[in-house]
Amino acid sequence: MTRASPLHVVILAAGKGTRMRSEIPKVLQPLGGVPMITHVLERARALGPATVTVVVGHASDRVREAVHGKGLRFVEQAEQKGTGHAVALALEGQDPDQRVLILYGDVPLVPTADLDACVGSESRLTVLGAEVEDPSGYGRLVEHPPGHLERIVEERDADPALRLIRRINTGILAAAAGDLQRWLAAGEAQAAERHGEWYLTDVVAVARAENLPVALRISAQAAAVLGVNDRAQLAAQERLLQQARAEACMRGGLRLADPTRFDLRGSLAFGTDCFLDVNVILEGRVELGDRVTIGPGCRLRDVTVSEGAEIDAYSVLESCTVGPGCVVGPFARLRPGARLEPGARVGNFVEMKNATLGADAKANHLTYLGDVTVGARANIGAGTITCNYDGARKHRTEIGADAFIGSNSSLVAPVVVGDAATIGAGTVLTQDAPPHALTLSRAPQQTRTDWSRPRKAKG
Ligand code: UD1
Ligand code: CA
Repeated sequence: MTRASPLHVVILAAGKGTRMRSEIPKVLQPLGGVPMITHVLERARALGPATVTVVVGHASDRVREAVHGKGLRFVEQAEQKGTGHAVALALEGQDPDQRVLILYGDVPLVPTADLDACVGSESRLTVLGAEVEDPSGYGRLVEHPPGHLERIVEERDADPALRLIRRINTGILAAAAGDLQRWLAAGEAQAAERHGEWYLTDVVAVARAENLPVALRISAQAAAVLGVNDRAQLAAQERLLQQARAEACMRGGLRLADPTRFDLRGSLAFGTDCFLDVNVILEGRVELGDRVTIGPGCRLRDVTVSEGAEIDAYSVLESCTVGPGCVVGPFARLRPGARLEPGARVGNFVEMKNATLGADAKANHLTYLGDVTVGARANIGAGTITCNYDGARKHRTEIGADAFIGSNSSLVAPVVVGDAATIGAGTVLTQDAPPHALTLSRAPQQTRTDWSRPRKAKG
């Protein structure tokens, strides 16, 4: 292959993935928070190819919808007759001089170094292999003499001696379009003899029969080039990806209590000296300022946490912002639109939605704050509920600065509590409470001395 010609990447993604036992097409199974094929596409794009062709077939509408972008071309493989058939379809009508790199939609984490080596190889055909402890399920690399790839034998066609080979085919290979087209055409005849399935892997034996140089590269990162056929392999790739993400975060200065109990399913930006305790799950876009600490078992999705804030154990935060020096949790739930201004505190079993808690304001226990603005330094007593929903519409509550809401109050929105107002415990507030005054609604307390407990009749 000449390096000067443009590179075309083909991604095979037409298979059903029967061994997953899922309604979701295999290449759309989530890995690190995105469909598996997204990782393949990212790696393909990093090579700066002229085109990327995705071969789709099973649930092709769903796959097309999930992957999009510039320079992407889809080829429909209506019947999945094998990987050779898929590549032949993708290369129909392609200029024979073009360089082609074949990637598998179910081999998501291939190191870029391996792809660079395949693409940069001077051989007519370059195959990426790996040496593994347990080769079961993979095509075996038959070398003759050692180091020279002679052919690839699929497991189902391998005799017991060949099955002992621990060098396996990753599926990834590079060659010129014209060569692949010719080799595949030769392989089609063999496919017919073999009851139908048309193997891409047969191109190796055909190239060798033509006395053409075939290069074999063995990946230095065997675990990263393994395919995903079932749930266990998917989980293994997830761990591998998470380990790499954890290591990258630690290199960037993030302290993790345990990198094996860290899950980043989106993007994370962080300042200096942040700390994440075990089992924190981060999704979407998460941004942490300097010295932020996150306790064990927290889940954050699309959240910004400013410097010095502390999110304590088992808190769940989504689409919200936590200001500097705030303390949240343990067991707090901040739903979309929650906003904590500097120094605000939210304690256990407090839920906030579309709600702003002013600077140094507190809601420390058992409270629902929905569609509300709470002023600076206000204190929201335990059990306070904003009754924001009348069954049809949502209404807002406004609580002024320095207000004090007594425990177990219901604030029936729309309603306004003035600055420095005090609401007596147990109040059902249905009208605005003026500033600087005590407002309460409470049945007067009474004691009845003429009353006695009912007793069970004897006998
Ligand atoms: C394939 C290789 C095997 C290799 C392994 C590495 C062949 C014949 N075998 O086996 O040597 O060790 O991958 O993971 O290539 N696909 C299509 N159209 C089809 C069939 C498959 O697009 O008609 C796609 C699948 O969606 C998948 C990929 O090709 O993304 C591989 O197919 P799969 O059936 O998983 O092949 P393996 O049995 O894993
Ligand atoms: Ca596979």
